[in-house]
Amino acid sequence: MRKLINPLLSLIAIALVVALWAYHWASNSDSASNSDEGSNSAKETESYRPTLEHDPPVPDPPKAAVRDFETFLDRLRAASETNADSLLLHRDALERAEQVFRNSVGVPDDVPIEMHRPFFTIDPEAVFALYFDLPTLERGLGLYQQHCSGCHGTYGRGNGSATQQWYAGNFPRNFWYGKFKSRSTRYGVVPTDSDLYRTLTRGLYGSTMPPFRHLSVQDRWALVQFVKSLANFYDDYDEVIVNRFDRKADRSKSAALDVGDEPPVTLDSVTRGRVLFIEQGCIKCHQGSKSKPVGLARGEGGFTNWTDEMGRPIGHSRNLTTRVFLSGAASSDLFRIISGGPTIGPMPSYQNIPNEDRWALVHYVQSVFKPDYPQAPASADALAHPPTTDDGKSDSAAANGSGEE
Ligand code: HEC
Ligand code: HEC
Repeated sequence: MRKLINPLLSLIAIALVVALWAYHWASNSDSASNSDEGSNSAKETESYRPTLEHDPPVPDPPKAAVRDFETFLDRLRAASETNADSLLLHRDALERAEQVFRNSVGVPDDVPIEMHRPFFTIDPEAVFALYFDLPTLERGLGLYQQHCSGCHGTYGRGNGSATQQWYAGNFPRNFWYGKFKSRSTRYGVVPTDSDLYRTLTRGLYGSTMPPFRHLSVQDRWALVQFVKSLANFYDDYDEVIVNRFDRKADRSKSAALDVGDEPPVTLDSVTRGRVLFIEQGCIKCHQGSKSKPVGLARGEGGFTNWTDEMGRPIGHSRNLTTRVFLSGAASSDLFRIISGGPTIGPMPSYQNIPNEDRWALVHYVQSVFKPDYPQAPASADALAHPPTTDDGKSDSAAANGSGEE
């Protein structure tokens, strides 16, 4: 037996050596071609000009989907005028709803319930009943229960069962408030259908909100209309129920943000951006300690009162050097977020400062991107092209002076 084992062992050893050599050879030729790309991308970043793709254009919503949503609004208006009571929760039911809300993880005890009353006095089941015979919304509800309710909650109040387990990042959106971060519209205005479609398709990078590209185009549009149908509140002064996406109720001015043309990136615009970054107070929330110059965790800045639309804590501002942004790192994406503001959380809107100043801020923010950081996919291809790290990191990082410490 021993006689056999020894030659066997040496055979295995030889096989191992050959395998290792083959692997080494293969990875060497790989890195040879990689290092070419590496030096290319180092050159690109030197010019303050990250190459970031744009999303493919959003397709037009199917006419039937838009019509179904309009019919839903007609029904909501009619019900609200003739018998608003039928859509509202009363006494016991309201108390139960408040209790469910209170028990949502992350909602602090001292958040006054009145603040949320306009939204959760409305009976979600009564709203769903209005979908009767509207295939888009019925489909939307079905898809929602399957794909979204675990995070966004059975009724879209942002308190799905997943929030009981994790709450390290931002909490899922409560759709009743009609407030959204990723918009092409001005501050305080609801997003367009295309904005919501885009969010669904690409997800929100850097949060737990995944992309849903795998759903068919029709399904995504159905979900968009469904999400809009939840943005209702009870105006107890006029005693009407209003949907925030209802143009007829004049609550939704379709005020698109004017992005215009991006001016050229120059050293001047970047320097001006840096000055504005300080003057406009971005630095208060986005600049950490000396060792971590840009991008800050709340604890570092002593902010303990940052909260979202439901009074739940927001742990961090964004680290601006990582290119990880909820709705894209392309210039127009940053211009929009700086102009309109996220509308949820502490970051204000800067739509009142001149356009060129906002562009300067965009250019400054892009200038602090770490070239060696895994890149956030700027396009909807989030799934098809997962983030990669490019080679040659050490020299480009050193050239930029943006190392860790
Ligand atoms: C794994 C959890 C999770 C799932 C599943 C999920 N979401 Fe989200 N969603 C989130 C979180 C978290 C946010 C808020 C992220 C933030 O504000 O940083 C969010 C935000 C959103 C927003 C708001 C975007 C904005 O601009 O403010 C929309 C719209 C949305 N989700 C729709 C959906 C739909 C529709 C589905 C199902 C097809 C879905 N989500 C599934 C976690 C999830
Ligand atoms: C009062 C604090 C505060 C101020 C002032 C502030 N921010 Fe923010 N900012 C935040 C927080 C918090 C977030 C994270 C928002 C989130 O995750 O939804 C954020 C997010 C961002 C984002 C990322 C948005 C995304 O889509 O991921 C950018 C870019 C940004 N801020 C730039 C700026 C610039 C430029 C200024 C100044 C003109 C500024 N911020 C001022 C708190 C602030």
